[in-house]
Amino acid sequence: MRKLFTLACAITMMAVTLVLVGCAGAGTGSSQSGASESSASQSGASQSDSSQSKNEEGTDMTSTTTTGSKTLVAYFSATGTTKGLAQTIAEVTGGDLYEITPAEPYTSADLDYNDSSSRTTIEQNDSSSRPAISGAVEDFDQYDTVFVGYPIWWYDAPRIMYTFAESYDFAGKTVVPFCTSGGSGIGSSGSNLAAAAGTGTWLDGARMSGDASASEVSEWVQSLGV
Ligand SMILES: Cc1cc2nc3c(=O)[nH]c(=O)nc-3n(C[C@H](O)[C@H](O)[C@H](O)COP(=O)(O)O)c2cc1C
Repeated sequence: MRKLFTLACAITMMAVTLVLVGCAGAGTGSSQSGASESSASQSGASQSDSSQSKNEEGTDMTSTTTTGSKTLVAYFSATGTTKGLAQTIAEVTGGDLYEITPAEPYTSADLDYNDSSSRTTIEQNDSSSRPAISGAVEDFDQYDTVFVGYPIWWYDAPRIMYTFAESYDFAGKTVVPFCTSGGSGIGSSGSNLAAAAGTGTWLDGARMSGDASASEVSEWVQSLGV
C-alpha cells in the first residue's frame, strides 16, 4: 500500500513537473514571440536604416550632380526691379536665392533722391555708412559662385551692399556683381564691393534690365564661364 502511495506520489510529482515545464515553455514562447516582435521591429528599423542610407546615398548623388558648382544669388532690392532679375538668374543657374533684407526697411521717403536729407542721400554721401542686415546666408561656405545684385544708387552700390560684402569670407569663390538702374552702367560699383570684401575672385559683372528674359540672362551667364 505504501509502495502504491509512493508510486502515486512519484507519478503526481512527474505530472506537476511536466505542467510546470509546459508553463515555462509557454512563457518562453511568449518571450520569444516578444523577441520576434522586437526583432521584427528591429528589422523594420534596419530596413528603415537601409532605406535611410539609400535615401542618404540618393541625396548624396543628387547633391553630387547639382553641386559640381553650387551657386548663390544674393540680392538687395528696394522696389522690386533687381528682385525680378535675381529670380531669373536663380532660375537659369539653379542657384539658391537670398534676399539681403535691411534691418530697417526703406520707406518711399527714404528712397527720395531729390531730397538731400533723405536716408539714402545721407547714407550714399557717407562712405562709412553700413546699414544693418536682418538675418544671414545659411552655410555660406557651401557656395562656389555668388551672384551679388543691387540697384544703382548715386552711381554706386547701396551702402547695405558694403555691409554684405564685409560680412562674409569670399575666399575661393567667384563673385559676379549685377545691377539694375534707371540708365547708369555698373561703373565701379562691383570693384568697390570687391575692395570692401577683400577676398574672392570678383568678375566685372553687368547692368541688366529687371525684366531681362531667361534666354538673355542665360546667354550672359554662359559668357561668364562660371
Ligand atoms: C536713392 C536712389 C538713387 C538712385 N541713383 C541712380 C543712379 O545714380 N543712376 C541710375 O541710373 N538710377 C538710379 N536710381 C534708380 C534705380 O537704380 C533703379 O530704379 C533700380 O532699378 C531700382 O531697383 P530696385 O527696384 O531693385 O530697388 C536710383 C534710385 C534711388 C532710390
